[in-house]
Amino acid sequence: MKTIQWSVDNYVDNLSGNPQLKEAAELLRQNEVVAFPTETVYGLGANAKSDIAVAKIYEAKGRPSDNPLIVHIAEINQLEELVTNISEQAQLLIQQFWPGPLTIIFNCRPGIFSEKVTAGMDTVGIRMPDHPLALELIRLTKLPIAAPSANRSGKPSPTTARHVLDDLNGRIAGVVDGGYTGVGVESTVIDCTGDIPMILRPGGLSKEQMEMVIGEVLVDPALNSDTNDRPKSPGMKYTHYAPDAPVYLVDGTFAYIQELVSNKQKEGLKVGVIATEETKKDYRADVVIACGSRQDLKTVAHTLYDTLRAFNNQDVDIIFSETFPIEGIGLAIMNRLEKAAGHRWVRQNKVD
Ligand code: TXA
Ligand code: MG
Repeated sequence: MKTIQWSVDNYVDNLSGNPQLKEAAELLRQNEVVAFPTETVYGLGANAKSDIAVAKIYEAKGRPSDNPLIVHIAEINQLEELVTNISEQAQLLIQQFWPGPLTIIFNCRPGIFSEKVTAGMDTVGIRMPDHPLALELIRLTKLPIAAPSANRSGKPSPTTARHVLDDLNGRIAGVVDGGYTGVGVESTVIDCTGDIPMILRPGGLSKEQMEMVIGEVLVDPALNSDTNDRPKSPGMKYTHYAPDAPVYLVDGTFAYIQELVSNKQKEGLKVGVIATEETKKDYRADVVIACGSRQDLKTVAHTLYDTLRAFNNQDVDIIFSETFPIEGIGLAIMNRLEKAAGHRWVRQNKVD
């Protein structure tokens, strides 16, 4: 299959009637799969009502079929026909944060979606992305659009159209190129079907931001790597985001990380470091890539996946990574880094 790439220039000014988006929307209506940018990462879209279309997502990504998909909408009034029992907290979150990087889990209205979207669950995750290209594309299709991140399963989510093509060229009908995505990590997934809303996946919107609007918010205890509980979000149990070389998270000073690097180099290994703008010049390693600024964790989220992917074009045997505080978007950053590292830590006083 030849994958079409639509570069939609100057898109912020004038989107209505854009011929490239019309072509992309038409392919979605014909049950083909098309990748598009959102404010978090690129999504791989398909008609959420069609088994044939949704099956193509799983096939293109190589995604396990027990992992349900997020459904994307462009208008709030689409929601009523898709879900039931919208709680008061969910309504407040919608008012405050949609469009935006927040996926809300609702009870699913029966018979609306392909069963492949929900992977047999009676709930469904819905979000309204905050990106003009995504919103206009979904509007043109007049459909709810199922869209997981547009990467091959296990790879870091794509934050540019180039990343999408690196993984999926020839496997999908097209990609709408809107340049870099803004947030850089996926949406926060929050379950609003119980009494107290619970975060199932930390993401672009922080726990603190939501608590200011709805009060108490829980975090799925299974996300803590010390437990053996099964995460409530099926996708959280899979390994993800890993570069080809093993990654180790380091809890220690700059000097300690440098010592680890030097020791591995003495063993003859090529060593990479995930650093920050503040520290990158000081490391003596084979490859040093800065992942944003420690002073502004949003910049770290924005560049995280590009950094993880960039190591695959480099000759390294092992990667050491700095770590970040788990506040605000730092919770999502550390969740993704932990997955990329397969939960391997080196601590200044202890190795596990
Ligand atoms: O930012 C995002 O959310 C991106 C963009 C494209 O919108 N999408 C995305 O989708 O990250 P995906 O499929 O890569 O991740 C969806 C996550 C998975 O961990 C999945 O298990 C979880 O949401 N999920 C989906 N439906 C669920 C449900 N009904 N209950 C619990 N978890 C659910
Ligand atoms: Mg994903």
